[in-house]
Amino acid sequence: MKLWGGRFETGPSEVFERFSGSLHFDKRLIEVDIRGSEAFARALERVGILTPGERSLIIEAFEQILAESRGATFFDGASDEDVHTLVIRKLKERAGPVADKIHTGRSRNEQVSLDMRLWLREECDRVRVLIGELAESLLNLAERYRDAVIPGYTHLRRAQAVLWPHYLLAYFEMLARDSERFAEARKRANVMPLGSGALAGSGFPFDREAIARDLGFVAVSRNSMDVSADRDFVLDFLYAAAAAMLHLSRLAEDWILYSSEEFGWMELGDAVTSGSSLMPQKKNPDSLELIRGKCGRVVGCLNALLVTMKGLPLTYNRDMQEDKEPLFDAADQLSASLEMARVVADSVKLNAALPKQAAAESWVVATDLAEALSRSGVPFHQAHQIVGRLVLESLKRGKKPAEWTAEELAEFAPEFGTTMVRLLDPVEGMKSREIPGGTGPAAVAKALVEARARLVQMRV
Ligand code: ARG
Repeated sequence: MKLWGGRFETGPSEVFERFSGSLHFDKRLIEVDIRGSEAFARALERVGILTPGERSLIIEAFEQILAESRGATFFDGASDEDVHTLVIRKLKERAGPVADKIHTGRSRNEQVSLDMRLWLREECDRVRVLIGELAESLLNLAERYRDAVIPGYTHLRRAQAVLWPHYLLAYFEMLARDSERFAEARKRANVMPLGSGALAGSGFPFDREAIARDLGFVAVSRNSMDVSADRDFVLDFLYAAAAAMLHLSRLAEDWILYSSEEFGWMELGDAVTSGSSLMPQKKNPDSLELIRGKCGRVVGCLNALLVTMKGLPLTYNRDMQEDKEPLFDAADQLSASLEMARVVADSVKLNAALPKQAAAESWVVATDLAEALSRSGVPFHQAHQIVGRLVLESLKRGKKPAEWTAEELAEFAPEFGTTMVRLLDPVEGMKSREIPGGTGPAAVAKALVEARARLVQMRV
């Protein structure tokens, strides 16, 4: 069955049917397609195209189709052009000739926009739950090692000491922004397009506000040509997905490094690592590598749709059917990666002694010393020079920071006096960073409490 055909003398070639059919991927929209069509049947009743009896016959048939569609074999052997066509065919089979009225004043162009919007609304909610769960796992991991100290890096060179929870809270912030982006993507999708017709507006006086209320939309689209031509709301979701994957890929990269023999800071659980078929000693971080790898794939999905949409003439073009596979793939990979990252985070054991030692052995305290000198009246540039010379001298003598005594320091540069020696312990310098957003222990404790409270908001 086709939803068109009158003006054609022959049917489509088998090659073209195979090439253009979208049922194998848009069948995912069946539930939202039926929900949208049920609302549309009610709209048709309100404009007098369907009698109340016809409407109820149609809705009943739709409900049966919906129930049937959850069965494992529902789509077997179906050769319909797309999910919309399949649903109408099933409607005809069940409800008879009255089904012929269901497309009155409605185009698949607006229908597919409606379906995608309904699907995206739910998907944004699902993703935000997964983001919240991962964020919670990161907070748990922070609290398991509340006092652990690690060297923070710039340029992958040890920079300044930070608390382990402070490091994890950086990822919490990224996830909080991701959650906001999905809330925003949901808002963009939450606009009701029906009534737009193919591109020019429907020829029937539908009460568009009533359809919006029926389907829980907060707004009605304002321009029919825009509806037919627009996939911005899909791009918004894909950008949010790409940004979230990017964050996960950076977390994955950090932990692949931190769990390596070279770092040795953390142990990933056996349950999230794999062995080698040849090298018996190996315990590889495949879960994290796959998260990092899938980021490339999801960025590709965003890129694919951007390039598909570029330069398309208004309004609808069949090119736009190419939106679905990248969207569904990105959504699947993102959900799977968020879930995987949570399980990895729950499995992490930190060997807190090693990062602590890494911090103590390097000159992550250099900035603390320079700032202390500066607070005692030495202009910062001079303080920087003094500490720079101290570091150089230490390297030449093979001396660790903790190996300097107060007397030696005062002898090296009288500006140090006898009290600054305590700053050679990285933990001491952190206490000067109690500024909001800093790694001072009190600031971090407060940030952790606030983050717990923010978890709740992340889901609403
Ligand atoms: N399968 C199409 C899509 O996903 C539905 C719209 C078809 N409209 C059309 N005029 N061919 O974009």
